[in-house]
Amino acid sequence: MTYENILADFQNGITTITINRPDKLNALNKATIQDLHDALDEANKDANTKVIIVTGSGEKAFVAGADISEFAHFNVVNGGKLAAKGQELLFDFVENLSTPVIAAVNGFALGGGLELAMACHFRVASDNARMGLPETSLGVIPGYGGTQRLPQLVGKGRAMELVMTAGMIDANQALAYGLVNHVTVQEELLPLAEKIASKIMRNSSVAIQGAIKAVNANFKDGVDGYQVEIDEFGNCFGTEDFTEGTTAFLEKRKADFLGK
Ligand code: COA
Repeated sequence: MTYENILADFQNGITTITINRPDKLNALNKATIQDLHDALDEANKDANTKVIIVTGSGEKAFVAGADISEFAHFNVVNGGKLAAKGQELLFDFVENLSTPVIAAVNGFALGGGLELAMACHFRVASDNARMGLPETSLGVIPGYGGTQRLPQLVGKGRAMELVMTAGMIDANQALAYGLVNHVTVQEELLPLAEKIASKIMRNSSVAIQGAIKAVNANFKDGVDGYQVEIDEFGNCFGTEDFTEGTTAFLEKRKADFLGK
């Protein structure tokens, strides 16, 4: 499938989705959010895709936020709908995908851009990346999950400061905060994400699927994450991958997982 605002490329088990509006610093307008939803859905349903990488085109920005020109004239009702629809279509959607999603943050990740990176399962960044939630400088608050996911990742005090000051942190500060897992030079960013993806691909994709559910359960109100872990752990014992993984270990050979 081809898309207007993104590029999707499949190679060696990895689908790389590149947000492609470089003249607008890859800002997320309605059409781009829909394209991202569709491409992520397609990649998640594709049995050959073992890992998804999300990045931005150009060397300047991952995503410089939601497209301000689209909502500048909105009223209270439209504003609420914008956040609800975006969270459903993209941000909650990506977090709950069963295929691992790595954000490769290649420049500015601001507002909705940082919220998208935070909704991915984990993040790597180039050393020119700058991250922040500037919404309060525009008279709004983060509306795509930023007030929830930022404190989960960096702690309440740091999140409060970033939101209240609308300031930006650089890649090394983000690394120190635990917001990103690794920082490298721009030309090494995708190779690094691909190297991590290749390590993920050696493991059982059905087990990883269960692990994503169990880890996410830790952050869902009213859900007992320990019980989700018990259920997902138990389910693994009914998979071919479990038989293969344990048998391969006992036979002192490398496991060859089918993802079943
Ligand atoms: N929404 C819509 N357009 C955006 C955008 C956004 N979030 N971020 C950047 N753009 C557009 C600019 O309007 C400009 O378009 P133009 O050339 O048609 O005028 C283009 O992208 C380049 O941005 P520019 O501001 O000229 O680049 P810069 O290098 O001077 O500054 C930033 C870079 C990221 C600091 C600046 O673009 C910025 O502050 N963007 C908004 C960030 C933000 O508040 N995001 C949260 C939104 S909720």
